[in-house]
Amino acid sequence: MTTDRIEAAHATLRANDRGGYTVPNPRIYPFQWNWDSAFVAMGFGTFDMSRAFDEIDLLLKGQWDNGLVPHIVFHAPADNYFPGPAVWGTNQPTPSSGITQSPVLASAARHLWEATKGQPEAEARLARIYPGLVRYHDWWHTTRDPKGTGLVTTLHPWETGGDNSPAWDQPLERVPSETVTPVVRRDDKVVDPSMRPLAIDYQRYIHLVDTYRATGWDPAKMLAVSPFRVADIGTNAILHRAELDLLAMSHRFGTPAERARIVERIPAMGAAIGRQWDAADGHFYSRDLISDTPIKVATSGGFLPLWAGCASAAQAGALESTLMGWLRQVRYAVPSTNPADPRYEPRRYWRGPIWSVVNWMIAEGFAGYGYTDIAGRIRADTRALVTKNGFWEYFDPRDGTGLGGPDFSWTAAIDLLLTPA
Ligand code: GLC
Repeated sequence: MTTDRIEAAHATLRANDRGGYTVPNPRIYPFQWNWDSAFVAMGFGTFDMSRAFDEIDLLLKGQWDNGLVPHIVFHAPADNYFPGPAVWGTNQPTPSSGITQSPVLASAARHLWEATKGQPEAEARLARIYPGLVRYHDWWHTTRDPKGTGLVTTLHPWETGGDNSPAWDQPLERVPSETVTPVVRRDDKVVDPSMRPLAIDYQRYIHLVDTYRATGWDPAKMLAVSPFRVADIGTNAILHRAELDLLAMSHRFGTPAERARIVERIPAMGAAIGRQWDAADGHFYSRDLISDTPIKVATSGGFLPLWAGCASAAQAGALESTLMGWLRQVRYAVPSTNPADPRYEPRRYWRGPIWSVVNWMIAEGFAGYGYTDIAGRIRADTRALVTKNGFWEYFDPRDGTGLGGPDFSWTAAIDLLLTPA
C-alpha cells in the first residue's frame, strides 16, 4: 500500500517533468512556477537527489540580473495558459513573468543540504546554487523594502501564491478593472469556474500586469505606481524562515560580508512580523501598506510565523487555540480562510480550500514549538485527503473532495515528505 502510494507520487512527478523542471499540472500550468518548484525539489530529494538540484538550477536560470527570481519561467512555449510571455513582455534571455512568488527556495535548498550533509556532489551543487539565493534575498530587501521597515511588499496577488484570498478583496478595490491587454482566460475552460477566481479578479490581475509592463519592469517605479501594495503575512514569514536557512548555509558556502547582511536583516523582520499580531483575535494579519492598516481577514498564512520561528511561545499557544476553533467547523485541516468568516468559500481556490504545501509548513511550525498533537493532526489530514482522492491541487475542508486539477506536482511532493520513513 505504502509502496504503491510512493510509486504513484514518483510517477506524478516524473509525468510532470519536462526535462529538469516540473510543471505543476500540464493542462492548467504548463511552465515552471517558483514556489511549486521549491516543494517539488524537496519531493524529488526523497528519491532522486540529482534531479532535485536540477529543479532549482532551472528555476535560477530564469533569475534576472537584478536578482529577481520570477514567479513563472517559460522555458518552452505552450498556448494553454494566460497570460503568456508576450503579455508579460519582460525581454529576458529566458522568458519569464516580471513578478516573484513566496520565497521558499532557500528553505528547499537547506532541506536538501540537511538530507545530503557531507556528500561532495551535493555540496558542489549547493555551492553553485547558493549565490543565486543570496542575490534573490538581497533583491527582496532592496526593492521590496527599500526603507528598511522589516516587512517586504507584494505587488500582485499572484506574488502571495494565494491569488484570490479574501484578504486581498479590499486592497484590490483600488485596482481598476480596465485592461490594455484583452483578458482571454484558459483556466476556466479546464477547471470548473466555481473553483476559480472571478472575472473581475482577472481584470484586476491583468490591470496590474499592464501597469508594471508600462514601467519597463523597473522595481522602483513599480513600487511607486502600484495601486496594490500589501505586506502578506505568509510571504514575510516564508522569507524570514528562508533567511534563517540561508544564514545556516552561509557558514559553509558564503562570505562574512554576506553573513553580516543576513544577520542584520533577520531581527528587524522578526520584530516587524511580531507587530502584525492581533492579540484579541489570536492571529497574525497581513497589512495594507497603502492605508497602513491591518487586513483583518484570518487566513492560513497567519499561522506561518510558526514556520518562520518568530512567533513567541504565547503566540504559538494562541494560534493553536485559533486553529482548534477553525477545526470544530470543518472535517479536515487547514482551511485557507477561517470558516466562520462570511467570505469563506470552501471550494473556491484560496478562499477556503486546503492546500497541502501550506499544511506542511504549518505542521512543521507547530512541531517546532512542541505542539506535536496538532502537527500530527494536520499531517494525518493532509495524508488522508490524498488517500481518499489522489494528488489534487486543493481540497474541500468539509468532505475532502479533490478540487482544481488532478495529479498535481506539489501535492505529490508533499505526500512524499509526509511518508513515514
Ligand atoms: C496558482 C496558485 C499558486 C501556484 C500556481 C501553480 O496560481 O495560486 O500558488 O503557485 O497556481 O501551481
